[in-house]
Amino acid sequence: MDGRGLTWPSRRGTVIGASPDTVYMDELVAAARDALTNAHVPYSEYRVGAALETADGTVYTGCNVENANYSNSLHAEEVAVAAAVRDGHREFERIAVSSGVRDGVTPCGMCRQTLAELAADDLAVVCDEGGDAVAEYTLGELLPESISAETLDDARDD
Ligand code: THU
Ligand code: ZN
Repeated sequence: MDGRGLTWPSRRGTVIGASPDTVYMDELVAAARDALTNAHVPYSEYRVGAALETADGTVYTGCNVENANYSNSLHAEEVAVAAAVRDGHREFERIAVSSGVRDGVTPCGMCRQTLAELAADDLAVVCDEGGDAVAEYTLGELLPESISAETLDDARDD
C-alpha cells in the first residue's frame, strides 16, 4: 500500500467459509467493510464504507464523515470518488458499498448522480448483504435517465 490506493492482483477474496466448500469474499466488499470502521457517525450511528475499483485495479475507499450541521456530511461513496479523481483516475470498474449492519445499503440518489458524472452506465455496484451475500446492480439500473453533460449541451443555444 502506498497510502493512497491498493492494487490487487486478483479479485479472489478473503476466505470466510470453512472447508469442504471454501467461500471467498469479494475483496472489494472486504475493503468497503474495512473502510466503514473509520466512519465518523456521531449523529446517525449508521456506518457506511465504499470501495471503488479503477480500470487499472487500484482501489480507493471512503467512509461517511458526518457534521453537526448535518448538511456538510460526506457520504462514503463521495469520499472514495474524490480520492480516485484526485489521483487522476477517470475510468471505473466497480464500487462496493457496505453498512455496519450489512443491510445491502445502496448508494443514495445523490451518490448515484455523483457516480454517473464519472462512470458509465455499466459500472457494477456491489451491495453488501452480509456474509458472502451481495446484491449487484449496474449504475444504469440504479439511476436511469440521469442528467449529464449531454443534457446541457442539447439544451444550449448555439
Ligand atoms: N450514507 C452514505 O455514506 N452513503 C449513502 O449513499 C447513503 C447514506 C451515510 C450518510 C449519513 O452519514 C448516514 O449514511 C445516514 O444517512
Ligand atoms: Zn450518498
